[in-house]
Formats: sequence, structure tokens, C-alpha cells
Amino acid sequence: MNISKRVNNIKVSPVRKLIPYQEEAVRCGKKVYHFNIGQPDLPTPPEFFEFIANSGETTLKYAHSKGNLGLRQAMSRFYKENFNLDFNEEEILITCGGSEALLFVLSTIFDVGDEILVSEPYYANYNSFFEMLEIKVNAFQSKAEEGFHLPAKEEILAKITPNTKAILLTNPGNPTGTVYTEEELKVIGDIAKEYNLFVISDEVYRLLSYDNKIATSMGAFPEYAENTVIIESISKTYSACGARIGAIVSKNKEFMSAVYKLCQARLSVSSLDMIGAEGLYNTLRKEYFDKNRAIYENRRDVIFEGLQKIDGVKVTKPEGAFYVMVTLPVDDSEKFAIWLLSSFDCDGETVMLTPAQGFYKTPDAGKQQVRITYCLEEDKIKKALNILEKGLIEYNKLNK
Ligand SMILES: Cc1ncc(COP(=O)(O)O)c(C=O)c1O
Repeated sequence: MNISKRVNNIKVSPVRKLIPYQEEAVRCGKKVYHFNIGQPDLPTPPEFFEFIANSGETTLKYAHSKGNLGLRQAMSRFYKENFNLDFNEEEILITCGGSEALLFVLSTIFDVGDEILVSEPYYANYNSFFEMLEIKVNAFQSKAEEGFHLPAKEEILAKITPNTKAILLTNPGNPTGTVYTEEELKVIGDIAKEYNLFVISDEVYRLLSYDNKIATSMGAFPEYAENTVIIESISKTYSACGARIGAIVSKNKEFMSAVYKLCQARLSVSSLDMIGAEGLYNTLRKEYFDKNRAIYENRRDVIFEGLQKIDGVKVTKPEGAFYVMVTLPVDDSEKFAIWLLSSFDCDGETVMLTPAQGFYKTPDAGKQQVRITYCLEEDKIKKALNILEKGLIEYNKLNK
């Protein structure tokens, strides 16, 4: 019996690769601070559970393949009220998280061997979908010293070939924390129009942008409406990763009726989770988002200031999401991250990082970088930074 080449080619994500070392560290009695997990630590709002408890459901039936009408209408209102975006319920398809939205969108756009244009470093899980669907990746580089903003238009254009079908953007970015400006989005939109490409805009972190800036959605530009497909999720917006509710949002009718075939094939999304999600969209407004944003923004400031004080560390201030890419004074960030878990501790405590190489397509890129996640309380961030600083000194002494 054989395992398919497509699945065999999928690499373990850079986040998961270190788990055996972390498990071993815990088994040996170490406390591990998680600078690696992209899972909000804030509680899921009670409205989610209340709506489910009050739903009166007695039989868990299949829901509509498009997703519950009430949820799609609630999302439509949420877009209008918070972002002045006009998407009606027929322009929204509910999916099992942003992950299924991505899989369905990519499956609908790409044939085997077609090419996708993406800015690296990018969210490593995309690679699993690319491998699964045999999509070829053409990555253009964004640089740490430019805050991972987009390179010049010419550099992006140079990567387009006749097989390019779409540009994939993550805004705000994972792993970069970069929030693209309106001008940058217009560059992408113009390229997409000129070359007849889709823009897949992964906006699952849209509500997390700092310094009083609002992350502009690709959906804000009517001139690119036919090209644009938005990936949505409640995972980060409402601290509800386990609910598995996301959405595909687009005004392109031909695209939406094609992708709907995949929604029909998988029948339905969890009906209870959709009820909870509708509760969230219907009840939680600006105050909730502002409160969450302020918590993460404060953590961003703590981590950025702390990292700047560590000798040899290079970092640019992230503008959104809850990630920061950091260049460390080490030979190999993966080796260092493993060493932190397996050979180092500071009074029985250590820290878990995500080596950044897995976020790059270009071989050897990101070898000194790690992604740090700040889904941790402020005092834990400070403790973990202290451990990181001590670890760097010790590691570099040993590797002289
Ligand atoms: C950039 C990005 N897109 C999509 C997802 C998928 O999220 P979910 O499937 O939980 O909605 C994630 C999760 O971390 C992410 O970081």
C-alpha cells in the first residue's frame, strides 16, 4: 500500500516540530513558557455558550451548506458596522474555520501545477495546502529591516508567470505582525486586475491592529471586488479557536457558486458552533474589540521593549496580530530553540520559540530568526524574556 506523494510531501509545521522536545522538558519537570502558540489565552465570551444553551436544539441536524442564514446576516452587519464593508449574506459562505476556507478557495482557483504568489515569510500551514493541491509557490521576499512590508512592485511582477492564478496576502500578518497600508493593497489590487489574478486576502487577524490604526480590508476597494476573496475566522477575533467557524467572503458570483460546490460536498459546518458564533456577532461590539486590542497592544509594547534591551537581538515593531519576528544572535535558531528545551533552564524554567525557517520557501532564509507569540500575560512575557536573555548568553558561551 502507498501513501500519496502529495501527503508524503507535507512537512511537519515549524510549530509542531519542537513539541517532542517540549514534552520531554515537561516530563523532566521544567516549566515551559510558550512563546510559540498562536492560540489566544483570553476567555471565549460567555455569549457563545449562552446562545448554544438557549438554542432549544433537540436534534443536531445538518445545517445549510452555505452556513446558517442568521450567522451570515450577523456577519454581514458586523462588516458594515465595524469596517463599512458591504457584503450581503449571499456573499458569505461559512466554513470549518479559516483553514477550510483556505482549502476550499485554493481548490477552486488552482489546477495542479498552477502557481501562487506569496510574500515570504508566510504562515507555514499554507504549505500543507499547497502540497496537497500541488500548487507551485512563487515567493517574493519581504525584509525584516522594512518591517516585512511589501517589496517594490517590480519585484512582485518579476515573479508572475503565465501559470500564476492568485496572490495570497495575510493581513495583519502571521508570522510578521505587519499591517499593510492602503497603498500596498492598491499595488496588489492593480497587479491582480492587470494580470487577471485572484487576491486571496487572509484577514483572520483584522481586528488586531495597533497604534490607533485600522487594518484595511481588501474588501474595501470596489474596483478589485471581482478579484478579491477574503478568508475570515472567529478563532482570533473572539478567542474561539475550538469553535471552528470561518468564512469565505467574495462578491465574485462565478467564484462563489463554484466554491459552494465544495461546501455542499462536505454537507455542513457544526450547527452548534454556528449558533454560538451568531451570538458573538450579534452581541459583541466595539467595546469588546477595543478591550481585546488594548490587552494585545500592551503585550506588544512589553515584548518589543524587552526584546530591544537584549544584546544582539534585532526586532521591528509589529503593527498587528500577536506575533513578532526576531533576529537572534545565534548560528541556527532551530538548534537554539531545541537547546532551550532540552539542555537549558533558569531555576527550572525555560521558553519555547518557533524557529522561522519553516515560514520561508527560500532555502536557508530565516536561519537566525524566530517567531514569538504574545498570547501570554504580561508578567509571564517578562519572565520568558528574562529566560531568553540568559539562554542567549549561555548558548553563545558554549558555542564560541
Ligand atoms: C494567517 C492564518 N490564517 C488562517 C488561520 C486558520 O485559523 P482557523 O482555522 O482557526 O480559523 C490561522 C491560524 O493560526 C492563521 O494564522
